Amino acid sequence: MKVIVCKDKEQMSVEGAKQIQECMNNKPDCVLGLATGSTPLGMYENLCRMYKEGTLDFSKVKTFNLDEYCDLDVADKNSYHTFMFENLFSKINVSKENIHIPDGESKDANKECKDYEKAIVQAGGIDLQVLGIGRNGHIGFNEPDESLFVETHVTDLTQTTIDDNARFFEKKQDVPTKAITMGMGTIMNARKIIVLANGEGKKDAIRALLSGKVTTNVPVSLLQLHPNVVLICDEAAYPND
Ligand code: GLP
Repeated sequence: MKVIVCKDKEQMSVEGAKQIQECMNNKPDCVLGLATGSTPLGMYENLCRMYKEGTLDFSKVKTFNLDEYCDLDVADKNSYHTFMFENLFSKINVSKENIHIPDGESKDANKECKDYEKAIVQAGGIDLQVLGIGRNGHIGFNEPDESLFVETHVTDLTQTTIDDNARFFEKKQDVPTKAITMGMGTIMNARKIIVLANGEGKKDAIRALLSGKVTTNVPVSLLQLHPNVVLICDEAAYPND
């Protein structure tokens, strides 16, 4: 695993954007796997700026998002659809038909998951997957457990994740408890993975990622089995011990 320790979140965001730029330069019609959360926000800002400056062209790029909440209106301010359109898609020249985000409101969630998995394969697989990490070591919404799903599936969110997400919702009872997420196999099939992390709160998860042991109780640790992972974190998230 390649590790890039940055002095702060700004530098982490620049390094992340550079990885995407390199992928797009090598393959203008590449397939990007994208993440939500506060971690990749600065990277998305850099990508929007680079597009505006004319150094990036998303016209042939396809995107697949990692996950989406279930039973939350796509137009809700907290849906991942809203997040992606507000922070990236509305500001770059990606074609609408090339954007894929799981439909968390689907009446037939299992079919939605199967179709999502198929669509990734039909697109030729993911060239570069961007990941943030949950405080408990989850990736996408693959939560710590005794076993993990391989493919895209519906999952219950853990209390830690529900509590972490509560800050975005007005009422506690509005916080979603289920989501559709790519599975560990979907993520591991990506040809390259970049993991972004900043801040002290991610240190334990990064320690597990670098530990030399894998456990489904810390899903991010499984990335050690992937041949092409780049960890980009700031000094606060990097465990020096
Ligand atoms: C959610 C997303 C994850 C993301 C995580 C971390 O749980 N499903 O993909 O990595 O949030 O969020 P943040 O970047 O805000 O710490």
